[in-house]
Amino acid sequence: MAFPHLRLRRLRRTDRLRAMVRETDVRPSDLIAPLFIKEGLVRPVPLEAMPGQFQHTLGSLVEECGQLVELGVPAVLVFGIPARKDEGGSPAWDPDGIVQQALRLIRAETGDRLALIPDLCLCEYTSHGHCGVLRGTEVDNDATLEAYARIACSYAEAGADLIGPSGMMDGQVGVVRHALDAHGHQDVGILAYAAKFASAFFEPFRHAAESAPRFGDRRAYQLDPANGDEALREARLDLDEGADIIMVKPALPYLDVLARVKATFGCPTAAYHVSGEYAMLKAAAARGWLDEEQAMLEVLLAIRRAGADLILTYFARQAANRLGRG
Ligand code: PBG
Ligand code: ZN
Repeated sequence: MAFPHLRLRRLRRTDRLRAMVRETDVRPSDLIAPLFIKEGLVRPVPLEAMPGQFQHTLGSLVEECGQLVELGVPAVLVFGIPARKDEGGSPAWDPDGIVQQALRLIRAETGDRLALIPDLCLCEYTSHGHCGVLRGTEVDNDATLEAYARIACSYAEAGADLIGPSGMMDGQVGVVRHALDAHGHQDVGILAYAAKFASAFFEPFRHAAESAPRFGDRRAYQLDPANGDEALREARLDLDEGADIIMVKPALPYLDVLARVKATFGCPTAAYHVSGEYAMLKAAAARGWLDEEQAMLEVLLAIRRAGADLILTYFARQAANRLGRG
């Protein structure tokens, strides 16, 4: 028998053959766009380390949402930056807070063509920049949960489809689920930041959201990058507490975790391709060291191949635009 008998190159010869055996794809409907809305802004502010991204005004936010709808992106993740912060983060549950205003306005302009997912955390709203209420210099888990419950209901009132609790407090999904149910919001879902690692790749985001901690870091609540088994336990707990979608964050450095979550639970799974991952690619492309579009599509495809049904990415609009051109 002549060798090689089986030649895998046979199916790589032409575009048509390659398309026939392609295992994974990325569609605009797989993408979720994170957006920043800042209270009191007169015009949008471009973010230096996140080229193409802005701190939005209500006007520019709604305009951006309209374009995402046209491109077939089904959802946005909304982060708010309030005009005023305090020790307990109370502007987060103001019924006329900036996120609440934004949700109502986007809903009025786009109807049901866009799923609205407010990120639920305190770091943008507290004067100290931690994701919860402090007792001394530590984040008090259970006191923080009370605030999260209040914020979740306030976002649901303002029209959220899903709530995205991102603070990595123990029990946060269960408390949010219970509060939503108790207030008649049983149809509002939860996108759980289940496996969120204490990552250096969040840096550009903290400038964008004005949410850097004033002292210390987030290692007492976010996962240790060394721990994959613990990430699975977090995902299991969140599912038991009523999470509808499980998220892994960041994406590329944690593709192993993503693949394990999808294989273990078979639940709707999301990956957050975070600000630092976006910044790296943009920076290399700006120097001509990478082909930006090719690298972007390869990264998104890899995240899908590893097991993500959904990708939260600052590339959402650019990728949807590119994919729409075929
Ligand atoms: C905090 C939060 C972070 C991100 C979203 N919500 C990071 C952090 O400050 O710990 C990161 C998103 C990104 O980097 O794009 N609740
Ligand atoms: Zn936070």
